[in-house]
Amino acid sequence: MTARMIMKLRVDTARRVTPRVLHLSLVHPSRPELPAWTPGAHVDLRLPDGRIRQYSLCGDPAERGRYDIAVKREDDGRGGSAWIHGNLRAGDIVHVSAPRNNFPLAENATRHVMVAGGIGVTPFLAMARHLAASGADFTLHCCARSELEAPLLGELRALCGGRLVPWLSAEGRRFDPAVLGRSEPGTHLYACGPQGLLDTVRAHAAGAGWADDRVHVEVFRPTPDLSFKPEPFEARLASTGEVLHVPADRSLLAVLRERGIAMPSSCETGVCGSCVCGYRDGIVIHRDAFIPVRDRQDRLAPCVSRARVSVTLDL
Ligand code: FES
Repeated sequence: MTARMIMKLRVDTARRVTPRVLHLSLVHPSRPELPAWTPGAHVDLRLPDGRIRQYSLCGDPAERGRYDIAVKREDDGRGGSAWIHGNLRAGDIVHVSAPRNNFPLAENATRHVMVAGGIGVTPFLAMARHLAASGADFTLHCCARSELEAPLLGELRALCGGRLVPWLSAEGRRFDPAVLGRSEPGTHLYACGPQGLLDTVRAHAAGAGWADDRVHVEVFRPTPDLSFKPEPFEARLASTGEVLHVPADRSLLAVLRERGIAMPSSCETGVCGSCVCGYRDGIVIHRDAFIPVRDRQDRLAPCVSRARVSVTLDL
C-alpha cells in the first residue's frame, strides 16, 4: 500500500445544507481534472494543525473537475468538524488526499439495500447516482430526526424517487430493521451512520442470515474502548527475523517507524485502512473498525491493534 497523494485544492463553494451540515465543493486551482474515484470513496482533509479527517465524496464520479463533501459539525467531537465550519470559506486552500474506496459497491450484486443515518448518507449519494443511472435495483433507507436535519434530502429524492425510504424519528417513524428482511441471493446490504444504527443493522443481518461478505459497513469514527488496558508484546519481522519490543504505551505503528520502516498511515485511529499490513502468526487483538472479519486471520492495523505476547509481521 502506498502513501496517498496530497493536493492543495480550493474551496469553490461552501453552503450550509442543514443548520449543522456544510457542503463543500473543492476544485484544483489550475488543473481541470482531479484523480478519478468510484462511489463510496472518501478523501482525507489535512487540517492546519495536522489533524486528519475522512469525508465521503458525495458528488458525481463522472464530474472529474470537483470533489464534493458534506461536513456535519460535531460539537462533542474531536474538533475537526468545528474547525472546518468555523474557518473554511470559498476561496480557501485545503490539503486533500487522493480518493480511496474502502466502501465500494459490490460488483456482483443484483440488488443493493442501503441504510444511512444522518451525515452517513454522503457515500450513498454517489452510489444512488451511479445505481440510478445504470438502472440497478436498489433501496435507500435514510434515517434522520426530521426533514430539516436530513442532509441533502431533496437531492436524494430527485435521484432515488420511490426507492428512497425516509425514516424521520421526530415524526414517529423510527427505523425498523425488520424491513431489511432476510438475506436473499445477490442482495448486498450497506450501512453508514452513527454507531447505534450500525450495531442495529449488524445485529439484524446476523440474525437474518446475511453472510459477512454481503454486509458492508462504513465507519469514520473509532468506537472508544475505555476498558482496554494495553500490554507490551514482541513483533518479529518475517523478512529479517528481527524482534521489536512494543511497550504498553506505544503503538506498533510508532515502533515500526522508529525502527526506520516506512509505514503509510492516515487516521491512526483504526478506521481508514492506510496502515494495514499482513501477519503470519500470533494472537492479534484487533482494535480497528476497518478490516472485515474474514481478513482478520492475516491482516492487522498497526496504528491501534496489538498482540498477545508476540506476532510475526509480513514485513
Ligand atoms: S492509519 Fe488508519 S487504520 Fe491505521
